[in-house]
Amino acid sequence: MGIADRRIQYETAGLDVDDLLPNPIDLLLRWYHQAEEAGAAEPNAMVVSTLDEQGHPDARVVLARGISTDGITFFTNRQSAKGIQIAHNNKAAATFAWLQLHRSVRVRGTIAVASDQASDEYFASRPRSSQIGAWASPQSEPLGTREDLNDRVEEVEERFAGVDVPRPPHWGGYVLSIDSIEFWQGRPSRLHDRFRYTLNGSVWRAERLAP
Ligand SMILES: Cc1cc2nc3c(=O)[nH]c(=O)nc-3n(C[C@H](O)[C@H](O)[C@H](O)COP(=O)(O)O)c2cc1C
Repeated sequence: MGIADRRIQYETAGLDVDDLLPNPIDLLLRWYHQAEEAGAAEPNAMVVSTLDEQGHPDARVVLARGISTDGITFFTNRQSAKGIQIAHNNKAAATFAWLQLHRSVRVRGTIAVASDQASDEYFASRPRSSQIGAWASPQSEPLGTREDLNDRVEEVEERFAGVDVPRPPHWGGYVLSIDSIEFWQGRPSRLHDRFRYTLNGSVWRAERLAP
């Protein structure tokens, strides 16, 4: 089938005001768990969008590792392209897409560096091979060959042979705090349901948006 001819009717129960929860974080967690139960591949995957120093948007998939009233936490190399962009401009957006459920959530907000304790704890929970990788890979920098990466991995394995791998100083968490968050539920005939929550002081207000 041609890509332009693909069409799916979104036969879902929809999202109505009665389904909304006072705090959208609770609704985000509910949708995340429903995506997990529906067997979504990597239900915690989200596209994080940032701006480079010229104001040009950039975006990539990362895994959310925490969702709470503080915001959405993810972990990465802080010297990566995204890390440099966040240091320059901490305004960001994140988008989840749970396509089997015809659902998406988009978040806009501000990114802050996660605490050392949160980064240490998460790093310690990772498989050793991923810990080695965090030291070995200069994320987002040009790399000659795959062999160059393998050599770097070997060198790091030797450096930390027989000891726990410490968290690299350039690796850690970020927390995207939420200024606004939109829940999108696909409906038939492209007449989808959309609700956007925005923070008014300390109170969340939701409004329906046209699809
Ligand atoms: C499913 C999936 C999950 C990913 N999770 C992460 C992650 O949690 N942290 C991360 O740094 N990169 C993750 N990546 C890789 C990023 O998409 C990206 O390639 C990398 O972070 C470099 O991005 P940057 O050059 O914009 O900094 C993931 C990619 C995919 C497809």
